[in-house]
Amino acid sequence: MRVLLVGGGGREHALGWKLAQSHTITDLIAVPGNPGFAQLGACIPGIDIKDTEAIVDLALANAIDLVVIGPEAPLAAGVVDALTEAGVRAYGPTKTGARLESSKAFAKEIMRRAGVPTANSRAFTDVDEAIDYLETVKPPYVVKADGLAYGKGVLVTEDLIAAQGWARLCISGEFGEAGSTVVIEDHLAGQEVSVFAICDGTRAVALEPARDYKRHLDGGRGPNTGGMGCYSPVTDLPDDLVDRTITQVIDPVLATLAEDGIEYRGFLYAGLVLTDEGPKVLEFNCRLGDPETQVLLSRLNEDLLELLVSAAEGYMPDGPLQWYDRAAVDVVLTAAGYPDNPEVGRAISGVNEVNSIPNVQVFHANTKRTPDGLITAGGRVLNIVATGQTVPEARALAYEAASHIHFGGIHFRRDVAQS
Ligand SMILES: Nc1ncnc2c1ncn2[C@@H]1O[C@H](COP(=O)(O)OP(=O)(O)OP(=O)(O)O)[C@@H](O)[C@H]1O
Ligand SMILES: [Mg+2]
Repeated sequence: MRVLLVGGGGREHALGWKLAQSHTITDLIAVPGNPGFAQLGACIPGIDIKDTEAIVDLALANAIDLVVIGPEAPLAAGVVDALTEAGVRAYGPTKTGARLESSKAFAKEIMRRAGVPTANSRAFTDVDEAIDYLETVKPPYVVKADGLAYGKGVLVTEDLIAAQGWARLCISGEFGEAGSTVVIEDHLAGQEVSVFAICDGTRAVALEPARDYKRHLDGGRGPNTGGMGCYSPVTDLPDDLVDRTITQVIDPVLATLAEDGIEYRGFLYAGLVLTDEGPKVLEFNCRLGDPETQVLLSRLNEDLLELLVSAAEGYMPDGPLQWYDRAAVDVVLTAAGYPDNPEVGRAISGVNEVNSIPNVQVFHANTKRTPDGLITAGGRVLNIVATGQTVPEARALAYEAASHIHFGGIHFRRDVAQS
């Protein structure tokens, strides 16, 4: 099988690493890929991954058997629709299916129709109406840009003025079209957890849960980021959480989408809060998470390519997925200035040494290969993923390994997977 992977971050390196282990893979290509992925297959730089026509041309020119899409932007742009029209098999939701992530108002409407537990909310395009409405609700206030804002579109605050300012900022164009509608919803209190599923249009099979660390600094302080670390399994969850998420959240959503003629074939990521009234949905993402992918694929005992081909064809095998009896921890190494203004171009050392440590895998996120060696090329630079019999064992190994990586200004959280 010839596979094209769309994307270039840590999630995509991990997807490539797992797909390369398949017994049916012959060729692996990534657009744009990254220096880590380059050890697994060819990388095609210089193509905008939201340019659906260019992705179709690339897939046809390389006689691709399956296209796997990592990030949300190409999915929201309709790359799967274009590939399918051109007769190229792809795994990921169509443009309308991807609206579960690319429009929070749409997701709320689907959840309302499907009877899925979530926060009460209202959507606004008129800033004065949004501001007046905020006067009537209790703090904490939750104001969200409707569209894709890459983790930067949501404000949770006790401060009414700040909440009203955020609504004004969104609607007046801070996030472009993505903010022209804002969703204002009730605050939900409780622990957050992510549950992922592989969907084949009618059925959903759950992956194991994972917990990520969004905030920049130890103790959950500082700004939200794309994710500073992650671990799996998550042992302090209600035993039936995954099954309930499939039967009470994901299956009803798939059925409601199907009523509208939308067959959802793709990963579906439910961001949940465990409230006193039970689990409630914060949001959906129409792709796997980053860094969750890195730990989940380190634990998955399945041929990923076979799984995605059958899901793309609409007939996933029955029964739960197989998992290795081991835990995984990912520590994300970031650049100085991240998340707002990351420094780039710092020389990186220690990657090969760390990759040779048993049960440790380095997944590249933002790195660049130069004649003088590897350098940093963005905010999240490398993922250090270690596995072990227990989370504490995997954690100790991940931090031991991370201590051998060096680049100027390096920052990582010291409390990932700390019990
Ligand atoms: N109703 C709510 N009550 C309390 N906290 C909330 C609520 N909605 C969102 N949050 C907080 O804001 C964070 C981001 O919100 P959400 O997941 O909807 O946005 P996002 O930008 O799509 O995030 P991601 O980048 O993870 O996809 C959540 O992880 C949670 O911590
Ligand atoms: Mg989201």
